[in-house]
Amino acid sequence: MIIEVKNIDVFYGNIQALKQISLWVTKGEIVALIGGNGAGKSTLMKAIVGLVKKKSGAIYFDGQPITTMPSANITRLGISVVAEGRRLFGPLSVMDNLNLGAYLRLTKRQGQEVQKDIQTMFEIFPPLKVRRTQSAGTLSGGEQQMLAIARALMARPKAILMTSHCY
Ligand SMILES: Nc1ncnc2c1ncn2[C@@H]1O[C@H](COP(=O)(O)OP(=O)(O)O)[C@@H](O)[C@H]1O
Ligand SMILES: [Mg+2]
Repeated sequence: MIIEVKNIDVFYGNIQALKQISLWVTKGEIVALIGGNGAGKSTLMKAIVGLVKKKSGAIYFDGQPITTMPSANITRLGISVVAEGRRLFGPLSVMDNLNLGAYLRLTKRQGQEVQKDIQTMFEIFPPLKVRRTQSAGTLSGGEQQMLAIARALMARPKAILMTSHCY
């Protein structure tokens, strides 16, 4: 099990956004979460990565309890997020965005491996190679989506949480 959510409750003030939610994701599995506006999809993702508090329940990542762990520590365990609106660094180049995706690895002096992974991203997403010096904010919507996914992969995560830009 890579992600295990057990009976979580999340409140915004008096309003309960998540009621006894449980979810399991095994290694290699792709899970799509579908629901109407306001159903609580984004809240569940925020709950997993530690951006909202859980009133009750537990969350495990790769067997480790992360229910009350600070968000930055959860990221270090190997979860990448491709957020709504993509959250790219608009003025920075495609290359800079990819390198920043590997920020945690660069600080561990894994520079050569990171450069190799950038080449792999260019193989998966050829348009990014052509536009590697172009600023991210000037890419087309689809190209920005490619860059957001590639940047998330640069961290070599064990799991990726992805939200659609079409809401
Ligand atoms: N920061 C917040 N403060 C108060 N209520 C919120 C907040 N964020 C989300 N909600 C409410 O929680 C419910 C679930 O929202 P959300 O998780 O964003 O739904 P979804 O992503 O499925 O559209 C909605 O009713 C929304 O209005
Ligand atoms: Mg949402």
